[in-house]
Amino acid sequence: MVKFAQIKGFLFDLDGVIANTSAYHSKAWHQLADELGVTWTEDLGNQLKGVGRMDSLNLILKYGHKENVYTEDEKVKYAEEKNENYLKLLNGLDKSEILPGMEDFIKDLSAHHYLISLASSSKNSPLVLEKLDLRKYFDEKVDPATLKHGKPDPEIYTRAAESLKLKPEECIGLEDASAGVTSINGSGAISVGIGDPTVLKDADINFNNTSEVTLANIEKAMDNKKVLNK
Ligand code: BG6
Ligand code: MG
Repeated sequence: MVKFAQIKGFLFDLDGVIANTSAYHSKAWHQLADELGVTWTEDLGNQLKGVGRMDSLNLILKYGHKENVYTEDEKVKYAEEKNENYLKLLNGLDKSEILPGMEDFIKDLSAHHYLISLASSSKNSPLVLEKLDLRKYFDEKVDPATLKHGKPDPEIYTRAAESLKLKPEECIGLEDASAGVTSINGSGAISVGIGDPTVLKDADINFNNTSEVTLANIEKAMDNKKVLNK
């Protein structure tokens, strides 16, 4: 069983973990779903969280039984349209949209010499980190454009651990999305799910919100948990 003392690195999702930008992705996808005549539901919104751009569009089309309606070129156009709307929503983004406690948590990790890597599916993540003024805390990041498979595949978290020259078992991954928790678990890292524990039921450790995410609470949760088979 992995002990807290063996942990050397932290692997971060971005949207919905560090900043409130997951809500902006949802808003822009909802807008596109309306345009495509696909009924938006909370379940669809949850399925899209953490999933890359084209995979998300394909999930929306599948959900609306329209998977064979559009050509690849049309799909690329719709994905670009969603991204333009998302970028408009990011216009005023600044440090005030860092989720509660996350800046202090990241600073604390840095002060305790943990290594930190970014495992975000978003091609906009460098821009978002820059706007939040948090880029300096990240030792490494995975470029999602280089992945063969997006979340829920483990590749992004495996690569994030590798980027720090660590084994996944020496790392903790933080996620707000079910697809992301599956990805962390598949890599062998410890998964922390932040948000509704019924949606994130596969996480090794659950917190209801980002304010609860501290090194002390993670240590306590790992020591209390007898079911960490990693
Ligand atoms: C993830 C978000 O971080 O990035 C998803 O949770 C989003 O909602 C995905 O679709 C891809 O983002 P982007 O910015 O590359 O379109
Ligand atoms: Mg997320």
